[in-house]
Amino acid sequence: MTSLEAEVASRRTFAIISHPDAGKTTITEQLLLFGGIVREAGTVKARKSGNFAKSDWMEIEQKRGISVTSSVMQFDYEGKRINILDTPGHEDFSEDTYRTLMAVDSAVMVIDSAKGIEPQTKKLFQICKMRGIPIFTFMNKLDRDGRDPLDLIAELEDVLGVEGYPMNWPIGMGKELKGLYDRYHNRVAVFRPDSEETAYLPLDENGDIVGDNPLKEDSWYQDARDNMELIADAGNQFDEQKIATGDQTPVFFGSALANFGVKTFLETYLTFAPEPAPHRTENDGVVEPTDSNFSGFVFKIQANMDPRHRDRIAFVRVCSGLFTHGMDVTLGRTNKTMRLSNVTQFMADTRENVDTAVAGDIIGLYDTGNYQIGDTIFTGKQPVKFEKLPQFTPELFVSVQAKNVMKQKSFHKGIQQLVQEGAIQLYTSYSTGDYILGAVGQLQFEVFQFRMQNEYNSEVVMEPMGHKIARWINPDQLDEKMSSSRNLLVKDRGGEPLFLFENQFAERWFKDKYPDVELTSKL
Ligand code: G4P
Repeated sequence: MTSLEAEVASRRTFAIISHPDAGKTTITEQLLLFGGIVREAGTVKARKSGNFAKSDWMEIEQKRGISVTSSVMQFDYEGKRINILDTPGHEDFSEDTYRTLMAVDSAVMVIDSAKGIEPQTKKLFQICKMRGIPIFTFMNKLDRDGRDPLDLIAELEDVLGVEGYPMNWPIGMGKELKGLYDRYHNRVAVFRPDSEETAYLPLDENGDIVGDNPLKEDSWYQDARDNMELIADAGNQFDEQKIATGDQTPVFFGSALANFGVKTFLETYLTFAPEPAPHRTENDGVVEPTDSNFSGFVFKIQANMDPRHRDRIAFVRVCSGLFTHGMDVTLGRTNKTMRLSNVTQFMADTRENVDTAVAGDIIGLYDTGNYQIGDTIFTGKQPVKFEKLPQFTPELFVSVQAKNVMKQKSFHKGIQQLVQEGAIQLYTSYSTGDYILGAVGQLQFEVFQFRMQNEYNSEVVMEPMGHKIARWINPDQLDEKMSSSRNLLVKDRGGEPLFLFENQFAERWFKDKYPDVELTSKL
């Protein structure tokens, strides 16, 4: 194995997906503790709740109690280098979240065992499913009373359409939590609320605790054994192939807050989680992670992460080769040579200069406006262009204007830059030339308004237009007379025409009236 191959083989890059409050921050923190990145529990949490210095525009997250800033975290554990990408779980999450999921090789789904599958988890799961990446499930908060574990497993299949394979089983829960029956490791993990360390009891060939132990008489223990046996007979069979394609999810129970079951989860996850995957190019080619030429793509751009520096960072997922500090790469879209000398990687609470990076790693390029989302960078003579990142059709719309008509310049500059980041879409009305913004969720508008004011000194007035259905129309078939108040005709950033339908009824009415006109939902 070459040293590049060995480096690539050690990478594991994943996102944690969950509904707000399921425990994503808490579990991330535990993982960082194992990695020795944070020394005390509460560091990530404190940052989330605002005890750490934050840049101004992050106030908005603080107020709403969400995190969009701790984007990438890297740590080493037992010979593996792990990259965790944060996906904001807030219900108003943005396209950013979707795109982040394009940059990972697997996902960890955290579920509150009292609540089961909640709406955001479902949405995020569907994106992972679409990509066919492995998904590992952590049923959290076992130290509280939750739902019947059998129900939770069944729900995975019923609601998400994925086979659940329990790797362990709770022995009691809430106040009665005694431990985890870990059939994968052939042991029982004993819950000791007063101790940091988990004790493990080995199982014999019949699946019973070796030797004498009072736990053997416990009805919760017997229950757990019965359930595990039932599942072994009647449940899904462990299937690595299905796990690799995301058709089966290994399920781990535990409590992130009590740090119970998290280490087992991490270690087992690392056994099955995939190495960096090859990436497909637009012309049906494949870039292997161990190719000697460097390549990567920009999946996220964030401006003014730190207002003291007024910087803008393009997040790049490395797909092949070796990144070295100061190297020259080609930016595919413009064919320009770029020197990568100001590059950062992300730790839990600092940003550090990075010297080398390989496939699976995320690097942050300080950007002065050269990069766009979806851009490919590469070395070598052969141009590389990765498959297009999916764009998601906005569902919510507002019209937007500068409050002060004398300040058009900063208004336009702000809009152009923020739209380039890709969190919101910009449209112009055919008839009036007015600006209309589209987003996946309401929060994007609020962030936009806040940032326009703070970063561009431009106060904007937004008028909600509500939910619309965006449908692109073949320009050759377009007749401006087709537009009405119920289907507003607008242009997207590329000048392509589309209708914003008031509702499904309006869309159906249009289709009946113009049966030959092609409408598409994809950007
Ligand atoms: P999120 O990032 O997914 O939004 O969730 P986060 O980790 O912030 O956890 C949400 C709440 O759930 C927090 O409580 C957290 O302490 C709690 N929690 C997380 N994991 C567990 C667990 O395993 N057991 C129990 N009982 N609670 C858990 P909070 O009261 O909202 O915040 P705080 O007072 O702890 O700061």
